Amino acid sequence: MTPTIGFVGSLVLTLVCLGAAVVTGYKAKRKVHLTSVAGAVAMLVATIYYAIELGKLYDLHQDSMITRVHLSVAKVNTAAYLLPAVTGLRTLKNPAGRKLHGKVAWAVLLLTVFTAVTGCIMLLQADLLVPA
Ligand code: HEM
Repeated sequence: MTPTIGFVGSLVLTLVCLGAAVVTGYKAKRKVHLTSVAGAVAMLVATIYYAIELGKLYDLHQDSMITRVHLSVAKVNTAAYLLPAVTGLRTLKNPAGRKLHGKVAWAVLLLTVFTAVTGCIMLLQADLLVPA
């Protein structure tokens, strides 16, 4: 599989799993919710792997502002996924944490959109080294 197909495919599957996690979270379907979250984590790992492979095909201009912003935001975003995990596990024990968990989940999802947008701008400004 080429890095481009692997990246686009795993990114789409990550978004599908995150969408399913939001819907099942609001419907309080815990088993499907947790399965969707596990799927999203697995697909996120695959997306990061293919993003690194894709990056090798481009000169990303490492010193450019957009590349520095994207790489920093991507690291913060990956670590930020611990927050819905922690608040979600807390909600399993104490349902009163549900509202906070929902807010944290949406904040991390917004950060994910920002990360994806900066990644797209970075790739659009990069020079292709070899055919993708
Ligand atoms: C280990 C990770 C997670 C655990 C253990 C977890 C657990 C939970 C639990 C127990 C609920 C309440 C459901 C109920 O009342 O029965 C819930 C709701 C919810 N979860 Fe998660 N969750 C996790 C990750 C996520 C992630 C990554 C997202 C974002 C895509 C998310 C989005 C939501 C939303 C939007 C709600 C509804 C909140 C509300 O009603 O205001 N969760 N989750």
